[in-house]
Amino acid sequence: MKTSLNQIVIIKPDDWHLHLRDGEIMKAVLPSSYRWSRRAIVMPNLVPPVLTSKDACSYLTRIKACIEKTVDFDPLLTLYLTEETNAKDVVLAFREKIIKAVKFYPAGATTNSHNGVKKIKKIYPVLSAMSEEGIPLLIHGEVTDPSVDIFDREAVFIEKILAPIRLEYPDLNIVMEHITTKQSVDYILSENSRLAATITPHHLILNRNAIFEGGIRPHYYCLPVLKREVHRQALINVAIKGHKKFFLGTDSAPHLDKVKIDACGCAGIFNSPYALEILTQFFDNHNALENLEKFTSINGANFYKLPHNKEKISLIKSDKSFHMPEALETSEGPITLFNPKMQVFWQIVN
Ligand code: DOR
Ligand code: ZN
Repeated sequence: MKTSLNQIVIIKPDDWHLHLRDGEIMKAVLPSSYRWSRRAIVMPNLVPPVLTSKDACSYLTRIKACIEKTVDFDPLLTLYLTEETNAKDVVLAFREKIIKAVKFYPAGATTNSHNGVKKIKKIYPVLSAMSEEGIPLLIHGEVTDPSVDIFDREAVFIEKILAPIRLEYPDLNIVMEHITTKQSVDYILSENSRLAATITPHHLILNRNAIFEGGIRPHYYCLPVLKREVHRQALINVAIKGHKKFFLGTDSAPHLDKVKIDACGCAGIFNSPYALEILTQFFDNHNALENLEKFTSINGANFYKLPHNKEKISLIKSDKSFHMPEALETSEGPITLFNPKMQVFWQIVN
């Protein structure tokens, strides 16, 4: 890595948590990821979900068909864990290098999660096989019990679901995805190197006030929902130090504006287009540019035991902040981009 006041050169980043969707939306959003990232862990919550090695194969083919020939970008697929998931099929998909990990959604926790897990013990045989095979488990860590306050669901998940899984399968590699709370940060720091976490740009940059500023702001609604400032500070503290257990997962989750701006709008923030520029500015604002590369390009690869990317990416800081477009136009309608509500002076050098 090279940094000066106005320029930074880092290893090309990876996005360890990304929603690419399918069809026309995927075609429209994919370039905003491969513009700045070399690999991405791709979420399986399609309709219908990516349940089997066969589904993953066909999704991979569809993704690759949308990537220009001259572009080097590796989509790393995941399977969607259900109570019916076949352990042998998971192992086969991993050994054949069709998938990199398995995603666990508690049923009803978020977008397209209704096929997820209700009775946790039912997935234990699959977790056992994954632990033996070294297949990472990626977790949406929120309980779905409606009697638990939405702001407490992540903390309760640790106590009720995650801690027992860790006790039963101490060798299972686990990524707590898109963590949002101080409890998660503390828990991950207290556990061994088999447990790590992704952090999104939006949970680093905004607290829950953003959802309600002057009215209801659907484009700041995601799950897990943005939290109080004290939690955001806990995330910032580990991210800007480049702590090895924490790495970038944008959780970029595009939804057409027409389904976000609705009486029952979808959860998800579409942040992939300028995620790197925004993060660079964020690290700069915290005088932590020297740790940006660890967060975006090193820690995740190390956790997944993958080589660091050979490619580099360079950003320069200009005198004027740049103007981001408000939305990406797709053949099905606009998708509003994440607005970080801060000036961004850093830009990728092509
Ligand atoms: O806000 C979210 N959107 N959180 C998730 O966990 C899923 C995602 C989506 O797929 O839209
Ligand atoms: Zn996600």
